[in-house]
Amino acid sequence: MSSVQPCSVSDDDRRPPLNEILAVAQHGLARKPKRLPSWLFYDERGSALFEQICEQPEYYLTRCEMALMDEHAGSIADCLGSDVRLVEYGSGNGLKTRILLQHLHQPVSYVPVEISPEPLRQSVQRLTRAFPQLPLQPLCADFSKPLRLPIPPRAPRRTVLYFPGSTIGNFENPDAVALLRKMRNEMGDGGGILIGADLKKDQALIEAAYNDRAGVTAEFTLNMLARLNREIGSDFELSAFTHRAHYNPMAGRIETHLVSRREQQVKVGRNKVAFRADEAIQVEYSCKYSLADFAALAEKAGLAVLRVWTDPQQMFSVQYLVRASAVAH
Ligand code: AVI
Repeated sequence: MSSVQPCSVSDDDRRPPLNEILAVAQHGLARKPKRLPSWLFYDERGSALFEQICEQPEYYLTRCEMALMDEHAGSIADCLGSDVRLVEYGSGNGLKTRILLQHLHQPVSYVPVEISPEPLRQSVQRLTRAFPQLPLQPLCADFSKPLRLPIPPRAPRRTVLYFPGSTIGNFENPDAVALLRKMRNEMGDGGGILIGADLKKDQALIEAAYNDRAGVTAEFTLNMLARLNREIGSDFELSAFTHRAHYNPMAGRIETHLVSRREQQVKVGRNKVAFRADEAIQVEYSCKYSLADFAALAEKAGLAVLRVWTDPQQMFSVQYLVRASAVAH
């Protein structure tokens, strides 16, 4: 393998422009009940707060997934096979990826896909130092949209899309199916998807993960309003809203809301948005799955679960999906 020196970032599709954010906010706040999309969390401050959430003692997801990767990276790498092109959706700080890259057999290239240019640049810098021989092909893009992947330096045996963190759970079922279908297209015939999926468990444990005692998750949720104030000039008073995250056992998901502490009006562009006391804006779902739920979700997208790695308490799972047509019956 030859050493690849400065790698260039393909800039496919950047953050939404501010007029789009204004339109999204106005549209969401005109809905009944009010709703704002969870991607609005991730400005620079929101991404930093999310990293802090991952370190909170109650947020078991990151710790469990890291432990699974530590324990099973060898067998995961064997399952993926040699000469893989690894494409990561939403590369974040890349700690789990490091474990995987250390074990992969002759990887062809690593393509981190990340919408925020700065975290992408930093993770590429770190990975270049850690894996000087690995061809890195960063792509600054929104992974939920169709991607134009860079041409690999040599022909891969397969493309594997890596989607850790249970971020799939932030998509409602029909959207999760649509995203998995898009991934199925992008990975091609012989490709696969290595995906982290959080599992259903004791309700109190799940709720604690989204209501940490240090208040980092509450700050993360409220930061969405601070971002809107800064970027589109709305005048949300942050102290007049509160974070609420409850597990809905019927739907199998954490439902996160920003709740108005009192009756109030907020300026959003030219609109005045009225809130009743206790009125909520729904801002995020974090879906939790049984292994059967997730297999059914994969099936709807034309995929089959080839392998599952999980811990003895079944807190979290890492799963390898392939096209259903590729699995012999
Ligand atoms: C990124 N995603 C998987 C996190 C989750 O658990 O749903 C985002 C998050 N929201 C609050 N805490 C963490």
